Amino acid sequence: MYPLRRNRRLRTNESIRSLVRETIITPHDFLVPLFVVEGKGVKEEIASMPNYFRYSLDILETEVKTLWSLGLKSVLLFAKVPDNLKDNKGTEALNPNGLMQRAIKTVKHVCPDMLVMTDVALDPYSVYGHDGIFENGNIINDDTAEVLAEMSLSHVIAGADFVAPSDMMDGRILTIREALEDNGFIDTGIMSYSAKYASAFYGPFRDALDSAPVDVKDIPKDKKTYQMDFANRFEAIRETEMDIEEGADIVMVKPGLCYLDIVREIKNDVDVPVAVYQVSGEYAMLKAAAEKGWLDHDAVMLEQITAMKRAGADIIASYFAKDVVKLLG
Ligand code: PBG
Repeated sequence: MYPLRRNRRLRTNESIRSLVRETIITPHDFLVPLFVVEGKGVKEEIASMPNYFRYSLDILETEVKTLWSLGLKSVLLFAKVPDNLKDNKGTEALNPNGLMQRAIKTVKHVCPDMLVMTDVALDPYSVYGHDGIFENGNIINDDTAEVLAEMSLSHVIAGADFVAPSDMMDGRILTIREALEDNGFIDTGIMSYSAKYASAFYGPFRDALDSAPVDVKDIPKDKKTYQMDFANRFEAIRETEMDIEEGADIVMVKPGLCYLDIVREIKNDVDVPVAVYQVSGEYAMLKAAAEKGWLDHDAVMLEQITAMKRAGADIIASYFAKDVVKLLG
C-alpha cells in the first residue's frame, strides 16, 4: 500500500508551497551596514565588495532616504577614518565632531525614525588595526573597555539609538551599560557582538575601512586573543549568556553562514533577540561566483538569507538587504 502520508502534496505548486512556508523574509528582518567617508559627493565602490559603497555624508542622506522608502528601518554605521587621525588609543573615536558622530546626526536629520546603531571598536581608529589598545605585545582589556564606554557615550550623545560593541573584550558590555546608566541614557540599547569568531571572512570589510591589523614586528597579525576560536561552541553560549547578564538587549553571532549551528543553539538558549551578521566575505564570495556565471546570484542570496532566519536569527545584518527587499518587491 502507498503511504497514507505523501509529503509531496504540500509541494504540488507555488500556491500550496507559499501557504505552508515556515520562514518569510520581510524588510523588517534587516539591519543595513553603511560605510561612511569624509568628503563631498563621494560614492566609492569597495573593490572586494562589488556594488557596495562608501558614502560621504551628503550622499549618505540620499541613501538613507532610499532605504527608508524600501521599508528598511535600521542601519549600522561604520566610519572610515583618515590615517592621520589614527593612534593607539582611538582618540579620534571620542571626537564629538568626528565622522561617526556627524554620520549619526546626518541620518537622524534626514530620517528621524531610522534606527541608528553604531559599531563600537577601536580598529578603524587604531594605527595597529586592532580593536583595542596595544601594550607590551598584547591587546589590553580593561583600559580598552573604558575607552569603548566613552566612545559609546559619544555616539549616544550624537543621537545613536543602539551601540554595537564588536570588539570582544571581556566585561565591556557591563562597562558600557554602567556608563550609559550613570549618564542618564537608560533607554539606549546595546547590541552585543557576543559570539564573534576570529574569521577569515572579514577580509573585504577590512579593505572597506582600511582597518586590517598592520604587518609590523611585535604587533599581533590576527585577532585570536580576543575574537573566538571557530572550533568552539560551548564558549559561544558562555559569551552570550554573560553579555546578557551584563546588560545586552540584543546578542549577535558573527559570521553567518558557517555559524548557523551556533545561531540555533543560542536562539534555543536565550530569551533576547538574536542577530546574525552575514559578513563581507560571505557577500564577496557570492558576488565573485555570480560574476563568473557559476551561481545564480539572486537565488543563492535568498536561500542564504532564508537559512539564517530559519536557523533562528531575529535580525540579519546584511550587505544584501537592499537587493533582497527589491527582489521581494
Ligand atoms: C570591527 C568589525 C569588523 C567587522 C564588523 N566590525 C572586523 C573585524 O573584527 O576585524 C566585520 C564585518 C564584515 O566582515 O562584514 N571590529
